[in-house]
Amino acid sequence: MTSRIIGTGSYMPAQIVTNDDLAKVVDTSDEWIAGRTGIRQRRIAVGESACGMATEAARRALESAGIDPEELDLILVGTTSADHCFPSAACEVQGEIGAVNASAFDVSAACSGFLFAMNTMQAFIQSGMYRTGLVIGVDCLSKLIDWKDRGTCVLFGDGAGAAVLQASDTGICHTMMRSDGTKWRVLSCVSRTNGNLLNRKTPELGYLYMDGQEVFKFAVKRVPECIDQVLKESGTAVEEVKYFVLHQANYRIIESVAKRLKQPMDKFPMNMERYGNTSAATIPVLLDELNRSGKLNFGDKIVLSGFGAGLTWGATLLEW
Ligand code: ACO
Repeated sequence: MTSRIIGTGSYMPAQIVTNDDLAKVVDTSDEWIAGRTGIRQRRIAVGESACGMATEAARRALESAGIDPEELDLILVGTTSADHCFPSAACEVQGEIGAVNASAFDVSAACSGFLFAMNTMQAFIQSGMYRTGLVIGVDCLSKLIDWKDRGTCVLFGDGAGAAVLQASDTGICHTMMRSDGTKWRVLSCVSRTNGNLLNRKTPELGYLYMDGQEVFKFAVKRVPECIDQVLKESGTAVEEVKYFVLHQANYRIIESVAKRLKQPMDKFPMNMERYGNTSAATIPVLLDELNRSGKLNFGDKIVLSGFGAGLTWGATLLEW
């Protein structure tokens, strides 16, 4: 018994912010941003909340799967920028869509959030505990960014993607997840809730901090390594894989992974040019685009791979 993705959905905020728009706010240029990252524009939530984006992506995924919210046993949301510290974004979405029979909780693994949540869902379904689950990756990092810091503000965007998983004989073939907590400082964001009665600290502003070059080195080493591992452990040749759906942080990272795996770039779909890095949302949004454009056929082998703060990274091999 394994689980299969039976539907996908996504939601991106309406407001587009181009590199030229950012060049009016910080000392940067379209040439620098596009040349170093592949990003030309991103969506920024103005009227939308994280829960609102997640809910809309979930509704679209349920519609594409052809199932009712009441059929869901579990809802997992990968996010690090939910609207509330508690309850979880997953509980908020549950309430919005009326998934009255589900349990719901969030998974915190930053940009690896969707992948970690999906692999967790797979473990629950594989164990026989649940049959049908909804996995969402949503982030609204625009509210955690220092818009005066040109080193980080040009990289990120907001959005949400979702997938419905159901018990099946074929689907997810192999998963792996890893973390290295010794490197947590490389990519982090301070909680706003660190003041109390006794320490009398004023709550700090929670701006995102990133050591870009450390993240770059980590990604180009760990991503091909973990993809190699899932392929080897499942006895799959790299040539059998139709698409590598990677976290959309930077096209240079993806080019480096393709080179290390000795695979052509057309196996590595990308959309960061339009959306930037939407953190936990990048993988399900890209998957939804591939699905809706009819590029995925029954039995196609696909590898998903994410990496992010923690540090966290992982890969999943699945058959569509
Ligand atoms: N516009 C113009 N100049 C800039 C900008 C900008 N937006 N940002 C930085 N610079 C300048 C720096 O100030 C520096 O100038 P200096 O040489 O005068 O000091 C110069 O550009 C080079 O800066 P670096 O930080 O060394 O630039 P680098 O080549 O490393 O590129 C980048 C930065 C794109 C962030 C790169 O390190 C990278 O891709 N890292 C991977 C991290 C990543 O993708 N993170 C995404 C989020 S994390 C995740 O998703 C897991």
